[in-house]
Amino acid sequence: MTKSLKAVNHGDKAVQLKVPADRGQISKKLLKWYDAEQRDLPWRAKPGEMPNPYHVWLSEIMLQQTVVKTVIPYFKKFTKKWKNINQLAAADLEEIRIAWAGLGYYSRAANLHKCAQIIKQDYNGVFPIFAEELEKLPGIGPYTAAAIAAIAFDELATPVDGNIERVVARLFAIEAPLPGVKPVLRQQAATLTPARRSGDFAQAQMDLGARVCTPKNPSCLLCPLSSHCVGYQKGVAPLLPQRTAKKPKPTRYGTAFFALREDGYVLLRRRPDGGLLGGMLEVPSSEWQETSSHRKTALKSPPLKGEWWRVPGIVKHTFTHFHLELMVYRVITPKMADLTLFADATCCKWVSRDELADQALPSVMRKIIVHALNFEG
Ligand code: ADE
Repeated sequence: MTKSLKAVNHGDKAVQLKVPADRGQISKKLLKWYDAEQRDLPWRAKPGEMPNPYHVWLSEIMLQQTVVKTVIPYFKKFTKKWKNINQLAAADLEEIRIAWAGLGYYSRAANLHKCAQIIKQDYNGVFPIFAEELEKLPGIGPYTAAAIAAIAFDELATPVDGNIERVVARLFAIEAPLPGVKPVLRQQAATLTPARRSGDFAQAQMDLGARVCTPKNPSCLLCPLSSHCVGYQKGVAPLLPQRTAKKPKPTRYGTAFFALREDGYVLLRRRPDGGLLGGMLEVPSSEWQETSSHRKTALKSPPLKGEWWRVPGIVKHTFTHFHLELMVYRVITPKMADLTLFADATCCKWVSRDELADQALPSVMRKIIVHALNFEG
């Protein structure tokens, strides 16, 4: 389902439409705007500097599904700890997982490590420059390959992220809805990419999308491309791109078991590699089910025997494809707690409360711990 488009009145600003067929002008104007207005982002080369492929790659992996503001402190932490690809390749995966904790999509951390090792071993620590070659590496899909090729190596490649989709949909007044229209947007975007400064041009569109051509209330009067923008000319720019109505996210339910040893150690479990939160640590939990009927049976599968009591309230967390609601049970247990009840005992470890902050714990697990510790009673 799509909204019907209604024209927006531009007041007195006369719009002289130059069709986007004038592609050379579009890239020229946008690059000029970028030279004056670009965001100062830590992975970007400063004017006159060569891009650092390690920085470009690392930032692009972190920026997959994650916003710039969230990525900045992680990028700074990683580049301070691992200054180049060889250092990252030599790092312990657990150290990388710990540094990645809170950034989400945890398979990225394992792929980052694998990719660094391949670059070190098979490519002598030097990134390949072509998108087709980059795409063969772990964690690098077509978008990321194009972004690295263009931004790090000035190759003629066209990465198209959400910001660029929006800019292109408006520029060409493409009214068909996302996600089906993605191939058309990609194709049109490719026609705009200039032979030189393809990476700057991609980043210029990203910055334009973040600062001017924003999802709501775009600042068309400040836009360097407004005279080329068919969406603006037709008064429909703020309504684009259209999007097919998303299905509401389902909710899953589960129970988390927070075991605190009397000497201040907390029981954590390693999740299996792959899958959601793969390889990260967790507060031992039941399966996450589609119905809340587990409430009746919740206490059937605690990781150890003891006086479990329900911590009041619910911990809620939203993943990309579902909401999660967890009941939390808590127990104080003697130092010699018996874990043999628990099938997954070998994946468990006791961690001192003081060291919880330095563990590979995803955000949802940190929420559970804070919730359980806040009810010390
Ligand atoms: N999103 C993805 N890649 C980006 C980049 N290089 N700059 C800003 N935002 C981005």
